[in-house]
Amino acid sequence: MKDVKRILITGGAGFIGSHLCEKLLGDGHEILCVDNCFTGTKMHIRHLLHHPRFEFIRHDITFPLYVEVDEIYNLACPASPIHYQFEPVQTTKTSVHGAINMLGLAKRVRAKIFQASTSEVYGDPELHPQPETYWGNVNPIGPRSCYDEGKRCAETLFFDYHRKHRLKIKVARIFNTYGPRMHPNDGRVVSNFVVQALKGEPLTVYGDGGQTRSFCYIEDLVEGIVRFMNSDSELTGPLNLGNPVENSILQLAEAVISLTGSSSQINYQSLPVDDPRQRKPDISLAVSKLDWEPKVALEQGLIRTIEYFRANLSNHTE
Ligand SMILES: NC(=O)c1ccc[n+]([C@@H]2O[C@H](COP(=O)([O-])OP(=O)(O)OC[C@H]3O[C@@H](n4cnc5c(N)ncnc54)[C@H](O)[C@@H]3O)[C@@H](O)[C@H]2O)c1
Repeated sequence: MKDVKRILITGGAGFIGSHLCEKLLGDGHEILCVDNCFTGTKMHIRHLLHHPRFEFIRHDITFPLYVEVDEIYNLACPASPIHYQFEPVQTTKTSVHGAINMLGLAKRVRAKIFQASTSEVYGDPELHPQPETYWGNVNPIGPRSCYDEGKRCAETLFFDYHRKHRLKIKVARIFNTYGPRMHPNDGRVVSNFVVQALKGEPLTVYGDGGQTRSFCYIEDLVEGIVRFMNSDSELTGPLNLGNPVENSILQLAEAVISLTGSSSQINYQSLPVDDPRQRKPDISLAVSKLDWEPKVALEQGLIRTIEYFRANLSNHTE
């Protein structure tokens, strides 16, 4: 029989967190989902609420939490610029005070703890693709710093708890992920395009659309997160998780128009300052240590994402 673990997932009512709740519940574990519902919603976990091994607590992780668990996945944090810049001080607090609270809890109950860090810790990188050994090029005082520097400080805290208190840590740097339950109005390119196409509105492409991005489907990411958590304890990370396959923004726009069957046109606008030409993870560490790599092709993932938005768009308010 498999070991049943008591698992705390912070940010469990969010996009990635809700899929992780489903996966770990499906694997037979007891799930404690904690979320303050800032960007997440109980709608994402409503199908799990009556499950005997699932419990939801509305709680802000900038305040201490006292529970007994075996593992913690710390995902709580707004993830898109529109959301994390809304209350930048709260964003930094969520990353830093939230990490201190969750690490303190992990230390007290001797739980293994996973941190959802981000490719944004590389800032505006001078190196492509970025390996985990790259220290990044981050502006400490800009409008994105509340997120980037908050996540960097959280990584520091994780490694200090590991060195000082021998805590078992797993720090993943997550790259662009997409799929069902993304927020429809958070300004991210996949959800933007899908929503615009379904509404028959023009798709906004900045510049000539030749800039490339790589997109990881949620199912692949969740598989990577769980494999990482269950890997040897020496593998602390930081570890990149993302899809290295690059697509131009124009290719993405054309794929969304064709898969939705939309009559939308493309509306070209000038390129914002700081828009990187390329974003691509180096996942060789995850491939070699976890035998993990993304499997879902962009078209397949887009079809499932479009299905979700087609069914749910009317439930979301502006
Ligand atoms: N989606 C991506 O492409 C991506 C990329 C890199 C890193 N990440 C990281 O993964 C994690 C999850 O991202 P997501 O895309 O699911 O975003 P999301 O906004 O859907 O999920 C974050 C969840 O955290 C909750 N939350 C925010 N502040 C909180 C607080 N103080 N206390 C308790 N709950 C709080 C929100 O309500 C939400 O449910 C985040 O930490 C994010 O930084 C995501």
